[in-house]
Amino acid sequence: MTEILKIENLTKIYPNGVKANDNLNISVREGEIVGIIGPNGAGKTTLIRQVLGLLRPTNGEIKVFEEEISKSPHIVRENINYCPQNILYFPSLTVKETIEFALKFKGLKNELLSQKVEEVLKGSELENFKNHAGYMLSSGMMRLLLLNIAIARDTPLLILDEPTAMVDVISKTRIWERLSQLRSMKNKAVLIASHDMNEVKSLCDKVYIIVRGKIIAEGSPEEISTLMKMPVEITFIPFDEEKVEKVFEYEKSLGFKKEYNVFNVIFDELNKGINFIKEVNELAGFKYLELEAPSFEKTVVKLLEEGEKK
Ligand SMILES: Nc1ncnc2c1ncn2[C@@H]1O[C@H](COP(=O)(O)OP(=O)(O)OP(=O)(O)O)[C@@H](O)[C@H]1O
Ligand SMILES: [Mg+2]
Repeated sequence: MTEILKIENLTKIYPNGVKANDNLNISVREGEIVGIIGPNGAGKTTLIRQVLGLLRPTNGEIKVFEEEISKSPHIVRENINYCPQNILYFPSLTVKETIEFALKFKGLKNELLSQKVEEVLKGSELENFKNHAGYMLSSGMMRLLLLNIAIARDTPLLILDEPTAMVDVISKTRIWERLSQLRSMKNKAVLIASHDMNEVKSLCDKVYIIVRGKIIAEGSPEEISTLMKMPVEITFIPFDEEKVEKVFEYEKSLGFKKEYNVFNVIFDELNKGINFIKEVNELAGFKYLELEAPSFEKTVVKLLEEGEKK
């Protein structure tokens, strides 16, 4: 698949000496939703501002469709759309006027403009609000609107800085659904900077974890979940309590607890846990079973903690 964005050895040192990006290598291809996660001050916004051409790199290259952006600034305007972390809007314009203004600014007019305005209203489920003033929208509605305006501008790459910050679960789900629809459009890609692990896990095909300006891990959320050796916890209620004690695999466990009729066993590896479950199932059967394998969120937190120590 065609590579839309390629970042090579990107380093940014601010005039005060802060190294906000340290030798970053990032690739975004058509059809991908790529996530950048990292704690406050990790360097996410610095990275985005350089990709948008708003900040000059200290070192390294940023290419959009193989063209270095500093040599051809128009390549950014033509191929990238951006939704900032903080909502910008015009409180005195109506929803429809806001959309028209934003799209006219991008050069759309006549038939295509009217068609796109309708598309945005529909995509953000704001058809009944089109004549409302901007200040009457909730922050969730406003985010969905801005996202749909960015999508309507129809560039190959969409960059979103914290797309669901300060948004309730319902609006969040709508924004995620809208973003997932983009995945099926094969020639588009999305780059998301986020703190929200669920967001990154459910949306992104590939994730880069950044700490203090450096990439400390990359891969699919599933791959990242396997990077740290983390315990597997099994909680269950057996049909036949007495038989559970005869389960041979118990000996391999790191810990064992029983409270009332609920058993809790911890293993250092997923495989040992699975073997244990098989054995209990054959001997005693399950009334209730819960397996907590290393989650994406727990692994990322551990990776970040380790990264901070270095
Ligand atoms: N204009 C600037 N001059 C000097 N240092 C800066 C400037 N902008 C950011 N920094 C520093 O660079 C580092 C990275 O900041 P950046 O805003 O890129 O992080 P971030 O990952 O976007 O954080 P957040 O999650 O809080 O938005 C921080 O140490 C920050 O203090
Ligand atoms: Mg930021």
